[in-house]
Amino acid sequence: MFEKSVYIKRRNQLRKDVSSGLILFLGNPEASMNYPANTFHYRQDSNFLYFFGHNLPDLAGIVDVDNGKDLFFGNDVDIDDIIWMGPQESMREKAERVGVENCEPFNRLFDYVGEAIKKGRKIHFTPPYRALNIILLEKLTGIHPSKIKSYASLELIRAIVKQRSIKDKFEIAELEKAADIGSLMHTSAMRFVKPGIIEQEVAGYIEGIALSKGNGVSFPVILSVNGEILHNHSHNNIMREGDLLVIDSGAATFMDYASDFTRTLPVSGRFLPEQKAIYETVLEANMKSIEACKPGVTYKEIHLMASRIIASGLKDFGLMKGNIDNAVEAGAHALFFPHGLGHMLGLDVHDMEDLGQIYVGFDDEIHPASQFGLASLRLGRRLQEGFVITVEPGIYFIPALIDIWKGEGKYSEFINYDKVEKLKGFGGIRIEDDVLITSDGYHVLGKPLAKSVKDIEETMADKTQNV
Ligand code: GLY
Ligand code: MN
Repeated sequence: MFEKSVYIKRRNQLRKDVSSGLILFLGNPEASMNYPANTFHYRQDSNFLYFFGHNLPDLAGIVDVDNGKDLFFGNDVDIDDIIWMGPQESMREKAERVGVENCEPFNRLFDYVGEAIKKGRKIHFTPPYRALNIILLEKLTGIHPSKIKSYASLELIRAIVKQRSIKDKFEIAELEKAADIGSLMHTSAMRFVKPGIIEQEVAGYIEGIALSKGNGVSFPVILSVNGEILHNHSHNNIMREGDLLVIDSGAATFMDYASDFTRTLPVSGRFLPEQKAIYETVLEANMKSIEACKPGVTYKEIHLMASRIIASGLKDFGLMKGNIDNAVEAGAHALFFPHGLGHMLGLDVHDMEDLGQIYVGFDDEIHPASQFGLASLRLGRRLQEGFVITVEPGIYFIPALIDIWKGEGKYSEFINYDKVEKLKGFGGIRIEDDVLITSDGYHVLGKPLAKSVKDIEETMADKTQNV
């Protein structure tokens, strides 16, 4: 947990940015796996963590804008709990650690919210995503569960996005830690991968590293020799000589700040000439995009620049043709690069996505697009000092998509389908780094992680593990 002054400052800022009423933050309860007492790995709500710091279930917080008070709700444990869980810090001590004077039993939340509603005061809350919190909100406000999301406060969403988008020095230090763990996971994977083993062995190995150094993985490990499947969570394939392996994974620190890296490895330890050529294009898109990061530039522009690098590399390779600017404007490159260049990173791997991507990644100036590919861009707006983002271009050969586009003759002025056909079994390549926007440019987070062909091949040749 950070110093209490950090949480006090954040809540005071929120009070300045929200005009009136009462701001309600529901912490997450436990979630059961297969019977009530057997629960999933606990994950606190990120907005609760940001403003009230505690990483424990069954808590709630209120920031009262009208009377300047903060309140902390939760129950002290009894002797039955102590027998099973050991002695626990009291609620009052917990409240004190995040600078809150008013501490109440959980049920008092109903009185506080109920009285506010009777007085006609506005109750601000964020869009709920857990069923139990949707039910709790219904009990607190009387709003039907099917309608509750539409009652989430836009004023609050905008105020939270404004604060959480700019990472302070304490958060940057945590994100650097998360990136160091992520870097270690990927370096360890490079040394572990070899033909003949099953993907799950690598996935389990790196997940263990995340869990041994922090709060586990920041999202389920994506790892596959079928890298053309963008988020492939099944890890059953035996890896073979000649395969390319995409690993997209990151760690959460004990305070739940996230990292998110992708590397693409030749299972044999050496890239084949064709793999190397396409890899170099993705690498160029990754590095030039990172170099373009600085305050004031829109991420949409950088995404389009990466798209042109990809299209141009594919043209050199005979897979695309025609004028590259026109091809990218039309969206033809999205056959090979159907996702966005990146997203915000913070307490969530897709930071603040619970609040609505449109509010996180876009604004009055830059709107989400509807064109296939560009429509998947999660961050389009102008970069600011203190943003932490991912940069993750890729090239994929997706047989089902190739078949549809080819069948429709789509963008046939820009795509050499006969050549593309031959690469249907190629898989995919993605290279992803985590980047802090500084006053005059960028800083790549985490200990250096191999990404050039030479560095990856050298790291894979060295089987010494450092964990
Ligand atoms: N690394 C997972 C994602 O960015 O969606
Ligand atoms: Mn990512």
